[in-house]
Amino acid sequence: MSIEKAYNSWADQYDTNNNRTRDLDKQATIETLSKYKFENVLELGCGTGKNTQWLLRVAASVIGLDFSQEMLNKAKTKINDNRVSFRKADLNQSWEIEDGFADLITSSLTLEHINNLEHIFRQAKGKLRSNGLFFICELHPFKHYSGSQAKFETEGGTQELEVYTHHISDYINAAKKCDLTLVEVKEWFDGETQNELPRLVSFVFRK
Ligand SMILES: C[S@@+](CC[C@H](N)C(=O)[O-])C[C@H]1O[C@@H](n2cnc3c(N)ncnc32)[C@H](O)[C@@H]1O
Repeated sequence: MSIEKAYNSWADQYDTNNNRTRDLDKQATIETLSKYKFENVLELGCGTGKNTQWLLRVAASVIGLDFSQEMLNKAKTKINDNRVSFRKADLNQSWEIEDGFADLITSSLTLEHINNLEHIFRQAKGKLRSNGLFFICELHPFKHYSGSQAKFETEGGTQELEVYTHHISDYINAAKKCDLTLVEVKEWFDGETQNELPRLVSFVFRK
């Protein structure tokens, strides 16, 4: 099943099923970005708008891009605010956004579905204004190495999605090639003890 179709099927239960990755990502997004204020945010793979609602607390406007119509429909039902626009777009193509538009670009749990990371960093650099930030939060590659990946339950059994493993060095090197500077990197764990594999990794890069 294509990634787009899989998310169209997942959309109905995405916000409500048991999903520690989704919930920890929200915590990571809030803890990392709440110290800033932004004008224009570009949210890559906005999905059902789980983070969009919160981003409006720190930003004047948000554009959310996603290629799953059903995920976007959920987002549009939940968030009816003239500061937000949700657009259907494939991130693997050129993004139809004005150059220098954003002072923040965010991408949560989306890049594991994108093979060509450098394309994303290059597009992000173009759409960011000078000093703008690029926040990424993804399933930690350690989780990938140990066999975890995006999946959801259907009546016919577990549906696993097509994913690509990006090593920590892949993110750092893609950013370096595009002249984006690393500001912050953090690992996110399920428990306080940090005895288990980290679930997520987040980065903040600056243009
Ligand atoms: C796990 S969901 C994350 C949604 C949201 N960011 C969140 O944290 O809840 C991944 C999202 O990325 C979108 N996505 C994956 N590949 C994409 C692509 N090539 N272009 C646009 N959206 C894509 C999916 O449709 C899905 O909504």
